[in-house]
Amino acid sequence: MAEYQVIFQPSGRRGVIAEGTTLLAAARSLGVSIEALCGGARACGKCRVIVAEGKFEKLGINSAMSHLSPVTAEESRLLTEDERERGYRLACCAEVRGDIVLTVPEESRQSKQVILETGRERLFAIDPVVKAFPLTLSEATLDDARDDARRLLDGLSSSYRLDGLSLNWEALRALPETLRNGGWNVTAIVSERQESREVIRVVASGSAAVLGIAIDCGTTTLAAYLCDLADGEVMAKASRMNPQISYGEDILARISYARSEKGGREKLFHAIIDAVNDLAAELTSKAGFSMSDVYEMVLVGNTAIHHFIFDLDTSYLGRSPFAPAVRGALNVRARDLGIKIWPAANIHSLPIEAGFVGADNAAVILAESPYDSDELRLIIDIGTNGEIVLGSRGKLFSTSCATGPALEGAQIAFGMRAAPGAIEKIRIDDATKEPRYKVIGMEKWFPDIEETSARGICGSGILDAVAQMYRAGIVNAAGRINAKCDSKRIRKGESGKLEYVIAWASETAIHRDIVITQADIRAVQLAKAALYVGAEYLLEKYGAERPDRVILAGAFGSYIDKESALTLGMFPRVELSRVCAVGNAAGDGARMALLSREKRMEIQREAGKVAVVETAVEPDFQKKFMNAIAFPPI
Ligand code: FES
Repeated sequence: MAEYQVIFQPSGRRGVIAEGTTLLAAARSLGVSIEALCGGARACGKCRVIVAEGKFEKLGINSAMSHLSPVTAEESRLLTEDERERGYRLACCAEVRGDIVLTVPEESRQSKQVILETGRERLFAIDPVVKAFPLTLSEATLDDARDDARRLLDGLSSSYRLDGLSLNWEALRALPETLRNGGWNVTAIVSERQESREVIRVVASGSAAVLGIAIDCGTTTLAAYLCDLADGEVMAKASRMNPQISYGEDILARISYARSEKGGREKLFHAIIDAVNDLAAELTSKAGFSMSDVYEMVLVGNTAIHHFIFDLDTSYLGRSPFAPAVRGALNVRARDLGIKIWPAANIHSLPIEAGFVGADNAAVILAESPYDSDELRLIIDIGTNGEIVLGSRGKLFSTSCATGPALEGAQIAFGMRAAPGAIEKIRIDDATKEPRYKVIGMEKWFPDIEETSARGICGSGILDAVAQMYRAGIVNAAGRINAKCDSKRIRKGESGKLEYVIAWASETAIHRDIVITQADIRAVQLAKAALYVGAEYLLEKYGAERPDRVILAGAFGSYIDKESALTLGMFPRVELSRVCAVGNAAGDGARMALLSREKRMEIQREAGKVAVVETAVEPDFQKKFMNAIAFPPI
């Protein structure tokens, strides 16, 4: 098969690519990050690249549009005529047919997200699965020629009443030398889980750091904590993007990639395991330890991410009846997954509640423990897949709802992640209809500054924009933009539908007007209606009119304006003071399960009691959903 030179600008990354490869696949193989919100399904239109035509002497390339496959029907639909004339193509559609130079425009470049790493302080007793036991053993003699393993286990029994332990192979291999080099003074690292109680390592006395890592594996970001298992202290924190994102922004796109692409599941598995290893390396080096000092890891994620991490088949998660491979808590050795901490370390996942209600939701429940409260709590973890829990002592309901990616900035004309350059807050003057807005990475609000380097709008900005447009009368209760509103910012867009200009091209880094379209408002309506209806059904099942408290979990929940969320009717109306954001509750729950055996058992018990509600099969779902679309819900 013929091969051609492909160069991506402005990074200058280049390589030899086989004919017929899509530009998106070529970019991935060369390490060039391109937004691919739909994972290459030719649906989102975000993977734009611009073909540079002509002879590039310096690069030694003759680049032409004819060196790519013809424009596809999807490109004709997703790109404007003007863009096509300017050489725009969609990277997931265009295939290499000759040497080519491409520019990845600002709006198509993936940028680092602002990641929330800290939750709130939570009190619980430290009693981890893995502990260190210092021992002084009697030396082997002709009169006492017990084997080394027996001698160690006898020592643990007599000194600590630890009976019935076994000795793991990794510990056994180094045992004879460690005992003798340490003058028979050693520390045994013991792991005590319900299913197995074993010595997993023996080290010379005085040198035992016993560490654990908890990671909240989100669809978009991974947040990790290195903890000292002896006292629970968080020694380091780190986070990074979930690298699976280049195979699809949302979970369904990734499930479909795993099923339909050759080697897809392996790629998704290795991508996340590599990221876990990178995080472990970063955390341990930050704290001055070695990766082999980590003896336990707790990972939580939604059901699909959980399956990808444990290399389980995700094919059946994407279709009815959405049965996961396993629901109970899972324990797998680090070495079996290729996680490069102590090889015999245990990788633990909290239980899954149902098809789309995952271990991350179990972690949120553990962190917020509504089952211990007399107050009726509604806990909303807003993501592409919204997870909602409602309950109090004795009764807990949970559901997941397809919020869609709109609240995370996807499928929105100028949507982007919460990264520098994203408009995150917006206010609109009721009288003049003029906006003020704030961009992530900039202190001051526009128009107090002339230029903003705005590149798009992130979820909190989109929510603010729609709520403010509604308050200012630009949008009516049905979500329609009011054509009669007197403002130069309200105009007909290319689709022929009305739109509102938030930022003029001259203020932005992308030199295009940043607008909120009628379709964007619709996407926000669908997302907020999904959450609202989910909460409504849970209240109905519980037998209550409204919750006592609304708890917003996760990064998005921490950044949104609570008043905007209430204005739009994202959840049942409560007093503003009764709405609180708790940060990364899933990460906190993972940490609690790492540090406390009791908490680990507690969530296994409680997760089994949660009644999962499938809202989509309720007979009046459509009616309720349509009512919830209005501002505020009917
Ligand atoms: S249209 Fe190309 S990745 Fe979505």
